[in-house]
Amino acid sequence: MAEKHAITLNANGKDYRISVEARRTLADALRDDCGLTGTHLGCEHGVCGACTVLVDGKPVRSCLMFAVQAEGQAVRTVEGLAKGEVLHPLQKAFWENHGLQCGFCTPGFLMLATGALEAEPDLSEAELRDILSSNLCRCTGYQNIIKSVCAAASEMRACPPSADR
Ligand code: FES
Ligand code: FES
Repeated sequence: MAEKHAITLNANGKDYRISVEARRTLADALRDDCGLTGTHLGCEHGVCGACTVLVDGKPVRSCLMFAVQAEGQAVRTVEGLAKGEVLHPLQKAFWENHGLQCGFCTPGFLMLATGALEAEPDLSEAELRDILSSNLCRCTGYQNIIKSVCAAASEMRACPPSADR
């Protein structure tokens, strides 16, 4: 049996003390060891972006990162976006602009867009299209995803979410 490593994963500001094999992906650790199943797994080899989370503020494909590599870094998942009953501006914009159909790709798009807009709030629509092109939507709802992210970007520029988001 493969050796396990005791690590502490910090996800959405909470520490999870877990024991994982060195080869366990961050996606599997988040979903199966931390119970954060909002992060979805599609292709499991870095193509679809459904598993995108933020690691120290940067979008990462969690199926391509080992859980042990994330120790000591701040991981954020879709579960950390809303504040209680209050949706994050991106979640609200997806809701209002029909930015999702089945919703499978949505957590990945939300985290990708969150990381991009937190790093550069003034991204143009063309730049956002370019960034969002890295993720796939099997329902092909790309126009409404772009519309949603652009709407959220405007709102976030006018009224930035609190820094702990
Ligand atoms: S599941 Fe990670 S990129 Fe597709
Ligand atoms: S909404 Fe179904 S995969 Fe994107």
